[in-house]
Amino acid sequence: MCGIIGVTGGSGVTELLLDGLARLEYRGYDSAGLVLQAEGTLWRARDATKPSPLEGLRKVAEDAPVATAGIGHTRWATHGHPNEGNAHPHLDCTGRVAIIHNGIIENWRELRARLLESGHVLASDTDSEAIAHLVEEELATGVDLTAAVRAVVGELRGAFALGVVSADEPETIVAARRVSPLLVGLGDSEAREGLLASDIPAILGRTRTVWALEDDEIAVLRPGSVEITSLAGDPVEHPAIEVGWDLEAAERGDYDDFMSKEMAEQPQAVTATLVGRLLPEGILALDEMHRLTDGDLQAVDKVFIVACGSSYHAGLMAKYAIERWLHLPAEIDIASEFRYRDPVLDGRTLVVGVSQSGETVDTTEAMRHARSEGAKVLVISNVVDSSMAREADGVLYTRAGPEIGVAATKTHLAQIAALEVLALYLAQLRGALPGPAIAGLLDHLRGVPDLIGEALARDEAVAGVAARFVDTRDFFYLGRHVGFPVALEGALKLKEIAYVRAEAYPAGELKHGPIALIEPGTVVLAVATRNRLWDKLKSNIQEVRSRGATVVVVAQDGDGDSAAEASSPEHVLWVPPTEELFSPLVDVVPLQQFAYHLARAHGYDVDRPRNLAKTVTVE
Ligand code: M6R
Repeated sequence: MCGIIGVTGGSGVTELLLDGLARLEYRGYDSAGLVLQAEGTLWRARDATKPSPLEGLRKVAEDAPVATAGIGHTRWATHGHPNEGNAHPHLDCTGRVAIIHNGIIENWRELRARLLESGHVLASDTDSEAIAHLVEEELATGVDLTAAVRAVVGELRGAFALGVVSADEPETIVAARRVSPLLVGLGDSEAREGLLASDIPAILGRTRTVWALEDDEIAVLRPGSVEITSLAGDPVEHPAIEVGWDLEAAERGDYDDFMSKEMAEQPQAVTATLVGRLLPEGILALDEMHRLTDGDLQAVDKVFIVACGSSYHAGLMAKYAIERWLHLPAEIDIASEFRYRDPVLDGRTLVVGVSQSGETVDTTEAMRHARSEGAKVLVISNVVDSSMAREADGVLYTRAGPEIGVAATKTHLAQIAALEVLALYLAQLRGALPGPAIAGLLDHLRGVPDLIGEALARDEAVAGVAARFVDTRDFFYLGRHVGFPVALEGALKLKEIAYVRAEAYPAGELKHGPIALIEPGTVVLAVATRNRLWDKLKSNIQEVRSRGATVVVVAQDGDGDSAAEASSPEHVLWVPPTEELFSPLVDVVPLQQFAYHLARAHGYDVDRPRNLAKTVTVE
């Protein structure tokens, strides 16, 4: 989720790069950097000063030479801490090649090992830097920069949008992409600058006409010209995209708000969280092991998961997986409660803190308490080097990219995926599951992003169901087993963005009190996807229907029995079926959409709901 920009030609290269980076900051601002081509050399500046590295970069750039071309980057860290050494652009060993990268290089470990063995000096901990050294090797064979980048693209696995410059090819930027978006364009002014950007806002001030590269295409930019070719070298032509939006809208792309954009990004968020971790030789879960060893994890005899809000719901989903796959006691607690009771912890307790921001005070303090009691603390966070990540014994990062909408959506799904990976990793490490069973589960997990995409594609149908309930002020959400945390998350979304009361219950608990509230017309939303308690859930739905409730169900495609529990065929939210313990990743999607459409129907600002903050740094 980094932002990238390139400019060649014209008299204001440095300013254009800095302005473009400012407009890309919403994609991440862990660090910012640029490389300028000037007088036959490359001039580099980078900054990682908080809170605004771009400010620092602007100051350094006051001494920049007059440039003929340049590339710039604003980073959202995935591999390697957010410090200056890991900031882009990265250079090769000679300092005459520079690259910027957005995405994740899946085979970075192999590439780095090979480069180190052949004598390269790698200065950062990133997956990206290897690309600069691979280009260096290709150039050493006598080819030009375009041919060198073409050859390197063939070696890369994963997702990337790249910009590459060489001191030896003035006014030339070579770009390439796979999966990660990349746009090229020509400036509208007389200078006709060649322009490169990860997304439109970066270059909208210079042009309204852009071309989008497709997978494995290479673009060569020079002042006044953009040439696009396939990986094989054949010329490619794309229809021009005429941009009709203003800047703020451009940051959101075609979406009305960040929440819908971020929901749409969920398949990528989960994919990015899985990439490079599910390897043929086994699972690699942890990104950082400061004070945690495999031996510690093998010795663990109890797991606590501690979190708030949507992160708590992700943790609750993982409890079922840990108990099933690891046969270990797994407790889940709300962070603000955990730290004030007397949880029994010792050196064999693993406390897993789950936090998108990694800064939530309740969770941070709970982690501190756990460490002070001698427990091993592992943190799952979406923000590299967040305070929780820094203090933890071990860290596993979700890689959902920055989430701007206050309601957690893509980070929530990435957390569930990360927790499932962690549970499978521990099962592998402790020999709790046979290899073929793990392999089978991994096959299912790899297919989940596509299923999330299928669920998202049904948005219009969900909007149709939601339209029936625009004036409903009270909802009950029911689920059993892993359907229960899905119900909790669906109800939370409805409360926080649509300001509607919604109570979530494990359906079996209803008869112990809350059923007294059910009367004709009460709306009940039941997560009726198939799990081991599905039969029992059906009986619970009957109990509310017989008392006159209007019932909406989430049902798996083809499951007529579940659909029959709904008040009518128009009260069914269909989802593609998936393996029981992975089903929350898919089943929660229509509930997010349901809340979204109800909020929009009332004209509420879904990105900035009242009374809430994205990061909660007070108790
Ligand atoms: O950054 P964290 O994951 O620690 O935040 C925890 C909660 O504040 C957060 O999940 C909150 O509940 C969201 N607004 C839910 O959409």
